[in-house]
Amino acid sequence: MRKNIVAGNWKMNKTLQEGVALAKELKDALSGVKANCEVIVAPPFIHLASVADAVKGSVVKVAAQNCSDKESGAYTGEVSPAMVVSTGASYVILGHSERRSYYGETNAVVKAKVDAAIGNGLNPIVCVGEVLEERENGKFFDVVSAQVKESLFHLDASAFGKVVIAYEPVWAIGTGKTATAEQAQEMHAFIRNLIAEKYGSEVAENTSILYGGSCKPSNAKELFANKDVDGGLIGGASLKAADFMGIITAF
Ligand code: 13P
Repeated sequence: MRKNIVAGNWKMNKTLQEGVALAKELKDALSGVKANCEVIVAPPFIHLASVADAVKGSVVKVAAQNCSDKESGAYTGEVSPAMVVSTGASYVILGHSERRSYYGETNAVVKAKVDAAIGNGLNPIVCVGEVLEERENGKFFDVVSAQVKESLFHLDASAFGKVVIAYEPVWAIGTGKTATAEQAQEMHAFIRNLIAEKYGSEVAENTSILYGGSCKPSNAKELFANKDVDGGLIGGASLKAADFMGIITAF
C-alpha cells in the first residue's frame, strides 16, 4: 500500500547553521512521537550533508530541491544526482513550479531530470499544478495531464514505482489561499486515474500523491482526510518545527 508522506520544502531559506538547528529541533520533536507518515525535509543543496547528519537515527529522510539531468562534467553551478545521493539524501523534488516559471523548466527538462534521478537511485517527487488563469478558464485538468504524461509516462512500471507526485496548484503556493479539500481530492483522483489507465490500478493505488500550497496545521487534517490525498509538500509551514509537527501529526 502507498505511503503517507509529509515533506518540507525549505526553498531558499535558512543559513547552514539555521538549517541544522531546525533539523535537530525536528528530530527532537519527533523522538517522542509515533509519526503515521514518512517525514522528509528538503533543504538547499549546501545543507544536505549536514542536515542528513543531523537527522541520523530519526525517521526523517532528506531530499534535494532540484538536480541536474547530467551525470558529470563542465556544467558550472549544477549538482548531479550522484552528488545528491553522496550526501545521504534519498529524494529529490523535481519540476517545482518555481523552477518551471523562474528557470524555464519544461516538461521535457523535468523528464530528463526524472531519468537522471531514478538512474542514480533517487526517488523523485515530481510537482505538477496549474496557474490561476488555467484554474479559472477550466484548463487545469489538461495542464496537469500533460505535465504528468510528458514528464513521467515514458517510464516503465518499475521505474514509475519510485515516483511520488505532488499536486501544487500554483495559485495556492505561498498565497495563503489553499485549494479546498474537494478541489484537492478531485485533482488527486484525476491523477490517480491517469496512472491507472497507463500502468494499471495496482501501480496507481501504490503511488503517493501529495498536496502542496498553503498547507498548514489548521487545514492539514481536512486535506489529508481525502482518500486520494496521501500527504503534503509544505513550504512556509515547514520552516518552524512546531508548525511542521502540527502537519505531521495531522495523520
Ligand atoms: P507554501 O506551503 O509556502 O504555500 O509552499 C508550497 C510549496 O511550494 C511546497 O513545494
